[in-house]
Amino acid sequence: MNITIIHGTRGSPNINWFPWAREVFTQAGHTVHIPAMPTPENQTAQNWLEVYNTLPPADILIGHSIGATFLLHVLQHAKSPVKKSIFVAPVMGDIDFPEYDALNKSFWDFPFDWAHIKAMAGDITILHGDNDPYAPLTHPQKLRDLVEGDYSIIKDGEHLNGEAGFTEFPMLADIINLSIRPLKAEDTEIIAEAFSEQGWNKPASQYERYLEQQTSGKRTTLVALKDNVFAGYVTILWESHYAPFRENNIPEISDLNVLKKFQQQGVATQLIRAAEKMIARKSPTLGIGVGLLKDYGNAQKLYYRLGYVPDSNGATYNCEPIEHGARRPVDDDLVLWLRKAI
Ligand SMILES: CC(C)(COP(=O)(O)OP(=O)(O)OC[C@H]1O[C@@H](n2cnc3c(N)ncnc32)[C@H](O)[C@@H]1OP(=O)(O)O)[C@@H](O)C(=O)NCCC(=O)NCCS
Repeated sequence: MNITIIHGTRGSPNINWFPWAREVFTQAGHTVHIPAMPTPENQTAQNWLEVYNTLPPADILIGHSIGATFLLHVLQHAKSPVKKSIFVAPVMGDIDFPEYDALNKSFWDFPFDWAHIKAMAGDITILHGDNDPYAPLTHPQKLRDLVEGDYSIIKDGEHLNGEAGFTEFPMLADIINLSIRPLKAEDTEIIAEAFSEQGWNKPASQYERYLEQQTSGKRTTLVALKDNVFAGYVTILWESHYAPFRENNIPEISDLNVLKKFQQQGVATQLIRAAEKMIARKSPTLGIGVGLLKDYGNAQKLYYRLGYVPDSNGATYNCEPIEHGARRPVDDDLVLWLRKAI
C-alpha cells in the first residue's frame, strides 16, 4: 500500500517518528512517501496541495500537527476514498504562538465539506497527547466531533513528536496493519484453531452457524486480521434476543472476542467502530450486553470508553429482568445492557 506522511509547521521528513515509520512500513512491504513541504517560507495549504499532488495516490494518509490538519485539504479534493486517515496531534485553531498561528491559519480556517471528507477518509483515527503543550484537547475534540473518528488520548504524549520521545510510534503500526472484513467460509477452522491454541473452546461449527446466519441476514460477523493473521471478531445480531432492544429495532453487538496475544492493541476498538459504522446505515442506536463478572472487566472498561451507557433496566439473567430479592446463579448469563446513539 502507498502510505503518505505529512509533517508539520517548520518540520521535515527527517524528524520525529517519520524516519522510523519509513523504515518499518517499507520493511513491511509498503511504499512510503514523506514529502518535504514548504515551511516556513511559502507555507499555505494551497502550496502544500501542489506538492502533495505530485505524489502517487495514497491508500493510507498520516499527518502530524498541522500536517494532520492538512489531510482535510487532501480529502476535500479527493475523488476516491483512501483506506485510512490518521490524524496525529491535529491543530484545529490558534495555539497562541503568533508566528505559528500566522503560518497555520490557512490550514484550519477553511470552509470544509465535512460530508465529502468523511466519505473520502476511510477509517479515521485521531491520536493526541493529554498534555499537548501546543494544541490542547479542544483541538482533537473539535476534529472528532466533525469527522466522528476513533479518538485515542495518549497519557503524557505531549505533542507526539521527537521532543516528547516519539522517535518511534508502534501504535501507528498497530493501526495500519489491522484490516476488518466480513466472515468467510475459509475462516471457520482458522478461528476455532486459534482459540483452541489459547485454551478456549470455540468450535468451528459456531462459525459455520454464524456464516449461515450471515447469508440469511440474521447476523453479520466481522473478522479482524493483523498482518493478515486472524486476531479477533465481533458479530452484529440484527434482531436482539433482549426484548427491550428487539422491540425498539435496536441491533446488538454480540460475541466480541480478541485473541489474548492481540489484546491491548486496539483490535476490539476497531471492530466495534466497524460494527457501529455498519449499523449506522440502518439504525440510530445500538446496544451491547456485558457480563458483570471480573472476566468481563476489560470489556466493561472498553464499552465505557467508547461511550456506551446502561439502558436503565438493571441487570438481567438470560435476557429476563431480575426482581428484587430473586435468586440467580452468578455466571455469564448475568448481564447489564448498554446503549449508544450513533
Ligand atoms: C474485551 C476485549 C474484547 C478487549 O479487546 P482488546 O482488543 O484488548 O481491546 P482494545 O485493545 O481495543 O482496548 C483495550 C485497551 O487497549 C488500549 N488501546 C487501544 N488501542 C491501542 C493501541 N493501538 N495500542 C495499545 N493500546 C491500545 C485501549 O485504550 C484500551 O484501554 P482501556 O482498557 O483503558 O479501555 C478482550 O479483552 C477479550 O476478548 N476479552 C474476553 C472476551 C470478552 O470479555 N468479550 C466481551 C464480551 S461482552
